[in-house]
Amino acid sequence: MTASDANRMALKVAREYTGRRLILAFNGTYHGSVDETLCVNILGYLINAPGLMGPIVEDPSVMTRMIEFNDVAALEEALAPEDIACVITEPVMTNVGIIKPEPGYHDALREITRKYGTLLLIDETHSMCAGPRGVTGEMDLDPDIFVVGKFIAGGYPAAALGFSREISDWMASRQPWHVFFGFGGTLSGNATAVAGIRAALEHALNDENFDHMIKLATRMEEGLAAVIKEHELEWYVERIGCRVEFRFLPQAPKNGSEALFAEVPYNTVDLIEEGLTGPLEVLIHLYCANRGILLTPVHEMALVGPTTTEKEVDGYLSTINALVDELTTE
Ligand SMILES: Cc1ncc(COP(=O)(O)O)c(C=O)c1O
Repeated sequence: MTASDANRMALKVAREYTGRRLILAFNGTYHGSVDETLCVNILGYLINAPGLMGPIVEDPSVMTRMIEFNDVAALEEALAPEDIACVITEPVMTNVGIIKPEPGYHDALREITRKYGTLLLIDETHSMCAGPRGVTGEMDLDPDIFVVGKFIAGGYPAAALGFSREISDWMASRQPWHVFFGFGGTLSGNATAVAGIRAALEHALNDENFDHMIKLATRMEEGLAAVIKEHELEWYVERIGCRVEFRFLPQAPKNGSEALFAEVPYNTVDLIEEGLTGPLEVLIHLYCANRGILLTPVHEMALVGPTTTEKEVDGYLSTINALVDELTTE
């Protein structure tokens, strides 16, 4: 019913299939309410994510190894002991801002996971905004396990997980096959959810709509880049398909740690008249909300939908431009 469910189930399958317990995830990642991924690696120490409710283990390193995205040497080192069941990753990181894979990174990830008998789970829940085939299709990736959720049923609660032929055959041959305790729930795969997925894939997440959405998202990206350039801001703008966001750093970070920590000094604004200091992000969200634009609650992130119009995109751009004008004018 949710991508969190799908990821949890996928990790259970990966553990049983490989006979290994540990999971590898990337710093700054988010895969839903999945305990194995709700931790942070701070300078080599793995701790439960701040605010985590009811952690199942005090020391998350008994179930998780966590390294940085885009670091091939760290990946090799982490998988070499051959005790990791599965690497869970987004194909492009999205939850600490957009972090794109460096050239060759996905090839290395696939090669090294195979070398050490570790399964590769691609969680496409957010990055499906890349196009009708997601980043997995765009980049021709070859995961063992694949998860999608969120808008896969057009807003109706549903998610999907798929396995390679080899794992599917193993699941079907597992004895007794009908007793897979701890997997799914009564409503998993219910008829309405499946109908929702079919409807969304046929009528919303199709090539025609994505052509429209990506065209407008490109307009948004170029418009934001022009605002940044004109005001000489140390910000960057990034896009995956129909998702566009800007962040308060001179260039895109390479991994989760950079994204989590580097932005902090930039994400502050002084409202001298009022004697206030606070996060720039909050100001931007409030400024937009007061002008009829609701940004998603995380990051300066906007998704172009099938019904979004050019006028709406231009309205958003002029609102951001007006805000930046106000902030940069003495
Ligand atoms: C990449 C990714 N996977 C999974 C999830 C979990 O989705 P849900 O909250 O619908 O279970 C999220 C939620 O933000 C996500 O970003």
